[in-house]
Amino acid sequence: MVDIIDKKSEQGEQKPFRLVKFFTFSALMVMFAATIVISAMNAHWVKNILQDKSEEYAQLLVANLNHQIFLQFIIPAVLKYGKIKLREDAQYDRMDKVIKTTLHSFNVDMVNIYDMKDTIAYSFDHEKKGVNGAGGEAYQLALKNRATSRLIEKGSFVELMFGFPNETKIITFAPLRAEKPLSSLDGPILGVIEIVQDISDDYHKIFKLQLLTVATCFIVMAILFFTLVFVVRRGEMIIESRAMERLKLEEKLQRAEHLSAIGEMTAGVSHEIRNPLGIIKSSAELLKKKMVKADQPTTIIDIIVEESNRLNNIIKDFLDFAKPMTPILKQCRIQDIIEKNILYLSQQIEENDFIVERDFKQPIPEIMADSARLYQAFLNIMLNAFQAMQQGGKLTIVILSEQDQIVIFFNDQGKGIPEESLKKIWNPFFTTKEMGTGLGMGIVKNIVESHHGTIEVYNRNSKGATVKITLPL
Ligand SMILES: Nc1ncnc2c1ncn2[C@@H]1O[C@H](COP(=O)(O)OP(=O)(O)O)[C@@H](O)[C@H]1O
Ligand SMILES: [Mg+2]
Repeated sequence: MVDIIDKKSEQGEQKPFRLVKFFTFSALMVMFAATIVISAMNAHWVKNILQDKSEEYAQLLVANLNHQIFLQFIIPAVLKYGKIKLREDAQYDRMDKVIKTTLHSFNVDMVNIYDMKDTIAYSFDHEKKGVNGAGGEAYQLALKNRATSRLIEKGSFVELMFGFPNETKIITFAPLRAEKPLSSLDGPILGVIEIVQDISDDYHKIFKLQLLTVATCFIVMAILFFTLVFVVRRGEMIIESRAMERLKLEEKLQRAEHLSAIGEMTAGVSHEIRNPLGIIKSSAELLKKKMVKADQPTTIIDIIVEESNRLNNIIKDFLDFAKPMTPILKQCRIQDIIEKNILYLSQQIEENDFIVERDFKQPIPEIMADSARLYQAFLNIMLNAFQAMQQGGKLTIVILSEQDQIVIFFNDQGKGIPEESLKKIWNPFFTTKEMGTGLGMGIVKNIVESHHGTIEVYNRNSKGATVKITLPL
């Protein structure tokens, strides 16, 4: 019954924990993935804006170039030479000067100017001069008065896959037009301008920012993750230790149940033995009287009586041990109980020349206790002490009152208790005596604890052992 309930509650305890673990870890993963996606989207968006801006920029440059070329090159050239002929060095140099001063402070990588027959008439790169047919579709569109821009990305496969090529350029083709003075209308198309802008640096900056975002997110996630792992470990350890504790408690309970079953049985059997034993003893005593009258030896009958007494004592111990431990509390004085014990043992004390010293530190307050049970406990302790002092000796009984408790010491001068026995002394049936039952100290402990007191046994610095009992007032 206990087993089933406990296992269920244990599972119930670990299950939500596992769920918490699962959900938190997956939430972390989702958050991390989301960060990557968002930062990628963000980068893409910024790149698009950059591209649009660069295109607009190129258009502006073209408009500006158109204006400057018309004013500073076409008109003066026509006036001076009558005809535009860029193949002539003087004209070419003039054009170069106009373009370079116009674009002086702008971020432009390359400028090509095509004539109407798709031949490069002017270029930043002198090698390209005179090249024919390089304009392509964009050139044709520009001839039809349509400016276009296109993005060129160069780099390794990986760079391209992540959307951050090593080299990024925007190439814009736009018509080169003559201007009509004092008119807002454009003049006829004279050729095509190609402007190449290098925006690699901007792209790299965006990439670095993206990398920084992801790295920061990763570090935060990692910290969260390890904190979580730590917390979960701690939690699991606590649960584990709790389960262990419960297991131990269960074991203890089982042992207690087992012991109580044994106790009940023993009590029953002992009780049944006691009556016939009483009859045997009284019959033997009767027989002894007759034998004495008849002047017959009584040695065998004496043995019967003696052994009956011993058996009776053992049964008494069993019964005491098995007795339920609810003391009947009444006002009583510890020293009176001890005096009663000494009186009861006086014959034994006299025969063995034991010395019993009373060291009662007055005043000793009265306490609420079960005097009959305490008598029984003290008797067991004193019997043990005398049994340990086979060669005689002194038993000192100290009583003192401390704040809210009474402390009683039984100091004997016996042989003391070996270290390994000290641990087992409370176990029922632990005895080192040939005739012992091993129940005495168990009974004493039960009685003391039923009074909410404590008991300790230890060896004295000088010869012998000490039993120390504290009882609350
Ligand atoms: N005062 C003592 N001096 C030495 N040994 C002791 C003393 N009290 C108890 N013991 C040891 O503890 C054991 C258990 O005591 P107890 O429970 O009273 O059983 P029993 O007296 O029947 O042996 C004894 O056998 C003995 O070895
Ligand atoms: Mg004993």
